[in-house]
Amino acid sequence: MKKGFVFDLDGVITDTAKLHYIAWKDLAAALDIEIDLAFNEQLKGVSRMESLDKILAHGGKKDDFSIAQKETLAEEKNKHYVELLQALGPQDLLPGFKEFLNAAKEKQVPCVIASASKNAPFILKKLEVFDAFDAIVDPDELTKGKPDPEIFIRAADTIHIAPEEAVGFEDAQAGIEGIKACGMFAVGVETTEPLYQADLRVKQLSELTVDELLEK
Ligand code: BG6
Ligand code: MG
Repeated sequence: MKKGFVFDLDGVITDTAKLHYIAWKDLAAALDIEIDLAFNEQLKGVSRMESLDKILAHGGKKDDFSIAQKETLAEEKNKHYVELLQALGPQDLLPGFKEFLNAAKEKQVPCVIASASKNAPFILKKLEVFDAFDAIVDPDELTKGKPDPEIFIRAADTIHIAPEEAVGFEDAQAGIEGIKACGMFAVGVETTEPLYQADLRVKQLSELTVDELLEK
């Protein structure tokens, strides 16, 4: 019997991956680096600085920038990304998510956000679902990124349950690995690429009911 739900944000609640992609692609182009959608898959679930490192390595420019320069580049990308987020609204919730969340709330199942994004509170407010969550893990308080399970362990902890008592929802392979590494039940929300190790794989949350997950 499960007692709580742990949600990734980008790709599970809303499709911001394409906005991250636009902002990274522009920044990369300014550095003479080309990235495509297939490469973008590697950035899912990965922190801002780590994403920049992957892009620089992809362009053969891994050692060309100081830490301070990289921080400026990451800030630039974020500024563009936040501009793109301004148009976000409840219409951008992924199909089935709001209904699933409402059903969880009705049953008083605690829900928590485990996202690598520092923009998570802002995005949740734009989507008008911020108040529905019991907690949001602050990625600044973590020492390791996904696929390390730290963020998922912390998420379960904030709602006072063991990881084994929670169901985690992820669209990134790194996220599924983190969920499984702490014994949580993993729901993979698949878009393009198949997710390995997930206990259940769906295209959207409307394929699931709260009751069936609580019984896992
Ligand atoms: C994750 C996204 O949720 O958040 C990554 O999947 C992103 O693509 C990461 O890099 C960090 O996001 P932000 O908003 O802090 O730059
Ligand atoms: Mg994601």
